Amino acid sequence: MSAYSSTVRAMIEYLEPVLSFVSEGEAGDAALSAEASDLQFGNPQEMPLPEIQQALAKWAAPQNKDWFAYKFSDPKAIQVAVESLRKLTGIDFDPADVSMTTGAFGGLASTLRAVLDPGDEVIYLSPPWFFYVPMIISNGAKAIRVDFEPPKFELPVDAIEWHITARTRAIIINTPHNPSGRVFTPDELESLADVLHRTHHPVYLISDESYNRILYDGRKHESPVRYYDRSFLIYTYGKTLVAPGQRIGYIAMPPSMPDREELRTALFVAQSITGYAYPNALLQYAMGDLEKASVDVAALQRRRDRIVGALDAMGYETVKPEGTFYVLVRSPLEDDVAFTKLLAKENVYVLPGRLFELPRWFRISLTGNDDMVERALPGFERALDSVRLSKLS
Ligand SMILES: Cc1ncc(COP(=O)(O)O)c(C=O)c1O
Repeated sequence: MSAYSSTVRAMIEYLEPVLSFVSEGEAGDAALSAEASDLQFGNPQEMPLPEIQQALAKWAAPQNKDWFAYKFSDPKAIQVAVESLRKLTGIDFDPADVSMTTGAFGGLASTLRAVLDPGDEVIYLSPPWFFYVPMIISNGAKAIRVDFEPPKFELPVDAIEWHITARTRAIIINTPHNPSGRVFTPDELESLADVLHRTHHPVYLISDESYNRILYDGRKHESPVRYYDRSFLIYTYGKTLVAPGQRIGYIAMPPSMPDREELRTALFVAQSITGYAYPNALLQYAMGDLEKASVDVAALQRRRDRIVGALDAMGYETVKPEGTFYVLVRSPLEDDVAFTKLLAKENVYVLPGRLFELPRWFRISLTGNDDMVERALPGFERALDSVRLSKLS
């Protein structure tokens, strides 16, 4: 008999490339050394924003006996979210339809749990964020993959329509998209909404907007929720603050969401049994101050331009991101893991595409600091040269 459940086994099987990458240690300790350029995950490589410490210190002192009592969603935090969403989307969310979560992880897991029955199908775009499929599997539901193809990454609306069946319960969309950096256009979102309106039964749109403030070249965020009523908007402060260890975000349902009163109760129960997926009290008190802080997006854009410009000049094929922390690069070797090992020999650590259903590509994180990037560039050049030389010989 297995030590763990068949559901967890299915999740482990899906995550196998990620788990073995992490456990092999190839990229572990070495990537943390002082000479290394760790461009793997969207983790901070610079000191945290001072505003985070200031906000936490300011709110740490208890103001009443209930300061650290059980806390679901703090009404003041909700108000901050409602204001912020009004500016971002133009929609007046009802405070009762916003729930504070432990980042997008908590928001996504709770939303899926609230709406899924075993056997339901959930469409996702591939390459996806690592945990969509395990979260779908955890509910006994089936993850239905629709390819989202490089290098253009146009929203595959027709393919989505072909994959809709009587069991389709939801579709997960992520814009700006990790790992492609694509930001969906109003036209794309309208076409998607048309497809969803044509289904014979209600389908939920779960809109992962984790990177909705990480936009380049003056782009404005277009929330898919504006185009389709039956939507959940998921947000995390982890990206904007580059502080994913401080778990705070939210789920928001637009006022046009059908059955939203019932869904509030469903989300409340789903969040509670998803390990109390509410942020710690302190973070919720601090939210008004955290809302004003942000990573320097202009600096990320300059880093993007530096990396994309340099790699293109060397002869790599890159996808220039419109938002997010990530640059996708086509692997010069068919085996993306083998190529990332070549880069690791140069002390440059990136994420092989096989970890996110995109073999033959790799992902660079722009959260690496400028020194790391400058140190990495000659390594990228040498690794590419070595592949070219080996192809000649
Ligand atoms: C697309 C996407 N969704 C959700 C998450 C989870 O975010 P958090 O850890 O802040 O909850 C991430 C984090 O990498 C992500 O890239």
